[in-house]
Amino acid sequence: MSTPTPLDPREVETPVGFLDLERVRANAQRVAGYAAAKGLGWRPHIKTHKSTVVARIQLEAGARGLTVATPREAEVMSSLTPDLVLAYPPVGPAKLERLNRLPEHVDLKVALDDASVLRPLAASARAAGRTFGVLAELDAGLGRVGVQSAEALVRLASEASTLAGVRFRGILFYPGHLRMPPEEQVAGLEDVARRVREAVDALDGVGLHPEIVSGGSTPTLWQSHLIDTMTEIRAGSCIFFDREGLELGVADLGDIAYTVLATVVSTAVPGRAVVDAGSKALSKEERGGRGYGFLADRPEVRVVGLSEEHGILDLSGSAWSPAVGERVRIVPNHVCVSVNLQDALLARDGEHYAVLALEGRGRGPWIG
Ligand SMILES: Cc1ncc(COP(=O)(O)O)c(C=O)c1O
Repeated sequence: MSTPTPLDPREVETPVGFLDLERVRANAQRVAGYAAAKGLGWRPHIKTHKSTVVARIQLEAGARGLTVATPREAEVMSSLTPDLVLAYPPVGPAKLERLNRLPEHVDLKVALDDASVLRPLAASARAAGRTFGVLAELDAGLGRVGVQSAEALVRLASEASTLAGVRFRGILFYPGHLRMPPEEQVAGLEDVARRVREAVDALDGVGLHPEIVSGGSTPTLWQSHLIDTMTEIRAGSCIFFDREGLELGVADLGDIAYTVLATVVSTAVPGRAVVDAGSKALSKEERGGRGYGFLADRPEVRVVGLSEEHGILDLSGSAWSPAVGERVRIVPNHVCVSVNLQDALLARDGEHYAVLALEGRGRGPWIG
């Protein structure tokens, strides 16, 4: 890609995802520091950024390894660390083939919840002369994936421990149903802790001690230590944060590292301004009937409507009277999907600006 000029945020072509690398480093240090203080490992989910630059910052801050969702992300991140978790069941020969092409030294641990995923994984690894780790996935309350009982988990772990081509390494769960402020999470966290403890005890009971118990999320980030049998957290959005983290009280406005830089293109309709960041830059993820994001420098101004290339700002609660051409930075509701809509980001590091590639982004057999 040729570097666009200029990169100065006052002049660069918009809309563009804008990243503050100093805040990224500060967030990485804080999360890694918390995890270390609580005796937990941090294995950030890189789906938030898909960037080797950001993943390197996380590893340098103390992350023990990385979590990925796709074989493509695994490929890209294997250049930085051999210690990877694929937190998504790899179904189908195309994905398995890609995983088997990872460099030999990569210690990939695969999360899955069914023997019908485990057996082809083991067979393909055997054929390729390699061994993948297996994390048996437990549904800790989200109701998305994961076995439904400790007994089912033991059955899956037992099969993984006998099949050539795989090695049972532990448990994975994701408490994605706990999306309320931390003080309201206590009962939910107790329930998750109980389910995970039952699973660990059941495995211990058959001599299959889980060396890894992988969980964690950004909404529950600072209370991760309440799940007493967990060994590592995969919190990912916390590297940039977003409106959700802010409104839950997990982060402050000064922690937001990613915004969408946009330009006011119309003020024709009274009480509104229209910017050039629409659903193709912010994503259409709604938050509690309160729009799609807000202005980082004027939090009272919300994005209340989106077309593909138009973002509609509600000026009714603000004294601000924007002019066409003015620049704004929008905090999106959900950072991961907004980043994934960008081809690359504009990154600021102090006084310097650069184009930041999102190498793990993209899907399809032609990618990579
Ligand atoms: C399986 C899994 N692990 C970890 C994460 C990271 O969670 P968060 O974005 O809340 O940090 C996610 C997020 O969707 C996930 O699906």
